Amino acid sequence: MEFSIKNGNPEKQRLGCVVVGVFNYRKLSAAAAAIDEVSEGYLSGLLRRGDMDGKLGSTLLLHHVPNTLCDRVLLVGCGKERDFHEREYRQAVSASIKALNTTGTSDAASFLAELTVKRRELSWCVEQMVEIAAEESYRFSHPSCKKEEAAPSLKKLVVNVPQRNHLAIGEAALKQAQAIANGVRWARELGNLPGNICTPTYLAEQAQELAKNHKLKIEVLERSDMEVLGMGSLLSVAKGSRQPPKFIVLQYSKGKSTQKPVVLIGKGITFDAGGISIKPAAEMDEMKFDMCGAASVLGTMKAVAELELAINLVVIVPTCENLPDGDANKPGDVVTSMSGQTIEVLNTDAEGRLILCDAMTYAERFEPEVVVDIATLTGACVIALGHHASGLFSNDDSLARALVNAGEESWDRAWHMPMWEDYQEQLKSNFADMANIGGRAGGSITAACFLSRYAKKYDWAHLDIAGTAWKSGKEKGATGRPVPLLTHFLLQRTSKKA
Ligand code: BES
Ligand code: MN
Ligand code: ZN
Repeated sequence: MEFSIKNGNPEKQRLGCVVVGVFNYRKLSAAAAAIDEVSEGYLSGLLRRGDMDGKLGSTLLLHHVPNTLCDRVLLVGCGKERDFHEREYRQAVSASIKALNTTGTSDAASFLAELTVKRRELSWCVEQMVEIAAEESYRFSHPSCKKEEAAPSLKKLVVNVPQRNHLAIGEAALKQAQAIANGVRWARELGNLPGNICTPTYLAEQAQELAKNHKLKIEVLERSDMEVLGMGSLLSVAKGSRQPPKFIVLQYSKGKSTQKPVVLIGKGITFDAGGISIKPAAEMDEMKFDMCGAASVLGTMKAVAELELAINLVVIVPTCENLPDGDANKPGDVVTSMSGQTIEVLNTDAEGRLILCDAMTYAERFEPEVVVDIATLTGACVIALGHHASGLFSNDDSLARALVNAGEESWDRAWHMPMWEDYQEQLKSNFADMANIGGRAGGSITAACFLSRYAKKYDWAHLDIAGTAWKSGKEKGATGRPVPLLTHFLLQRTSKKA
């Protein structure tokens, strides 16, 4: 999908469609009013007769509106003008793109970014529109899975800004949004691929490709390398699978050489059957998404590289499968992590923390400024927060605040959860330094507590994306979250340092 920023009059667009907003009680937006004026009250006439009431998310497609140069005009309901906030703006934009994709028009100019959204500036509106439009235009297709269906019709979207002197702001927002959208798209693609295609080896190849395209430093550690490093925890998970594990390390260094790097670690379980503590059959297919943490850090690296941000970033992806096997972890097994701490594997399905802990110890060698891990870690997080917010845990409150802010800014939100010392007790084991599970109560918190034991040497945060990384049901598929949050987090850090 192609995007551009323009400043023009709605009635003068020689395009397939012009998109304008209408509020409740027949209140026309500025762009709608301009069209109404040249068309001698055509729009207000329709509204008066009740063809459209401005209800949020409703749309009305008009053809041959008098005295306009476009083929169509799409009216988009925006609800009450007083209540037009972020959510409403996003809903209106999303409805407009869905409607455009059913009209057959290949290009359109949208005047919705001009609308006043409470608390938000033009750049936010432009960025959200571009990301939503890109998201709506994505269809999964793969030669060995599902061939390309009828692609959505919309190919070019002009985002109109209200004044000429807004063009630069619009362009900057567009550039940022496109990089994020590309990262999101790639993360979705990787997430959606089935476990028999998207294996640890495949992820490593994809990372190699990214490194080649953007001249990144890359290292892929093999099982034998991990043995030398003493990654006994990670390797204990990988043991039950015939796919060799990989440990991917990507380095991007466009920051000052004196600047310590941000390290992002993504959980890369390419399929999680649970191991010997096997999962129930229903919906087990969704455990192909258990590498969405990995996909999100790769997507973020792509966005950062495209934007050429002045930052030092390391991305680490520990990746393997979690399957039952004669050689798999058994409940009660005790393994030794790279940190030297021993772990009693009471439940082989709590494998994410077992691979992350060794990656967290490995991260120490970069003397990181901060480390953030991203993982589809616990079903409990879905129970706690549902599908709207990622769970956020941290051993540093200002880091947590920065991530919450980045989530709000990108509308890819996270919620700060407690990680008090009191919960640590649940991880006590009679046979090792810790157990890998802490019981049902506060399951996402005890998972974070487990990880915190490997974050003693740096500021660290953990994002549990079990509820946000993919959608179930009719629209089953990866979302690409939290690429927008992470990219904004890194953008914030570069602007602070500049
Ligand atoms: N990948 C799952 C977490 C998960 C479950 C994500 C459901 C999304 C939906 C993780 O490896 C897992 O199995 N976690 C267990 C932990 C438990 C055994 C302590 C869980 O959440 O059930
Ligand atoms: Mn599991
Ligand atoms: Zn898992």
